[in-house]
Amino acid sequence: MIKIPFGRPDITSNEIKSVVKVLKNPILAHGPLSHKFENFFAKYTGSKFATTVSSCTAGMHLFYIANEIKKGDEVIVTSQSHISTAHSISLTGAKPIFIDCNSINGTIDVGKIEEKITKKTKAISLVHHLGNPADMNTITKIAKKYKLLVLEDCATALGAKINKKHVGNFGDAGVFSFYPIKHITTGEGGIIISNNKKIIDKINMLKAFGVNKSYLKRRVPGEYDAEYLGLNYRMNEISAAIGIEQIKRFNKFLKIRKQNYNYLLSKIIKKKTFDIVKFNNKPYYGSYYCLCIIIKDKNINRLDIINKLNNEGIGTSIYYPKPIPEMKYYKKKYGYSSLKFKNAEKFSYRSIAMPLGTHLTKKNLNTIAKSINKVL
Ligand SMILES: Cc1ncc(COP(=O)(O)O)c(C=O)c1O
Repeated sequence: MIKIPFGRPDITSNEIKSVVKVLKNPILAHGPLSHKFENFFAKYTGSKFATTVSSCTAGMHLFYIANEIKKGDEVIVTSQSHISTAHSISLTGAKPIFIDCNSINGTIDVGKIEEKITKKTKAISLVHHLGNPADMNTITKIAKKYKLLVLEDCATALGAKINKKHVGNFGDAGVFSFYPIKHITTGEGGIIISNNKKIIDKINMLKAFGVNKSYLKRRVPGEYDAEYLGLNYRMNEISAAIGIEQIKRFNKFLKIRKQNYNYLLSKIIKKKTFDIVKFNNKPYYGSYYCLCIIIKDKNINRLDIINKLNNEGIGTSIYYPKPIPEMKYYKKKYGYSSLKFKNAEKFSYRSIAMPLGTHLTKKNLNTIAKSINKVL
């Protein structure tokens, strides 16, 4: 039985009280709280603009629609990520062009981007994998040279920075996830940050059916026109109320995650059979999403290790189960062969994600370290 879960939302009476307050009001959607959360989030990340959405997937999809990415276009994307990073491209009809990640921290291999650029390439999509920032300096240089858009998938990277700049501010937009086990939660939800007003203004219309007047700007209820083919990807007020309380406490969350990581690192006995992915190679500052163990010894069966850790009561996770091009949908559609994305395969098939969240007590951390030392 799992006694120490991999992740657990950090919900206090503040979140509960704020949700109850929303429920006592008639405004449950497109109200003031989503805007308040947007302001808080933009301020925290140092971004000019932010707009809430129903998930990170919705946010990435909206970014591509807003930039008119369509069938016939290509988007260069890392093969080491959640399926959502590629699906949000495919949903527009464009083709994701997968490239491998690097072997150090699983972020996109920037040395492989240029060779994949064609006349059809419109954008680069990268992931700050498990809270380790990608090499944005190189990526933005390439994007500038070929006039490409850059989308940062920051789903697991709230709080990560390069120098003093938060991730999500280097490309044209950055999208975060508020799924329950992420750094902060809104139940389900996401947010897009950007320093480009035009992108955010268009996304604001597209996330609400493509209509030209927000709820707040209508002189008469129901008075609007549809300017674009849009969706309903908005965040509701209950989620936004939770998000406001969460972002207020995020600095504390991040500090605890960092302490948990450093404590585990000090207690785990180093062995030649495995590596631990490092954070904070200056000027890169990570967000400590999880402690990622990579099993080096090919004779060790990962599933056995996971089962043993789970039997010790420790929750684990895998990020991610397969390189995206090797997932059934993409394999069938584009015929990608295995063994092409070597580094992504290493992360997908040989890594184990250990918990770092705010739910862990000192006793839990000692149990986790003891079990790793025993099992590995
Ligand atoms: C890197 C990455 N991108 C996107 C997503 C999807 O986020 P959401 O569930 O908010 O759509 C996830 C979810 O875990 C993720 O890890």
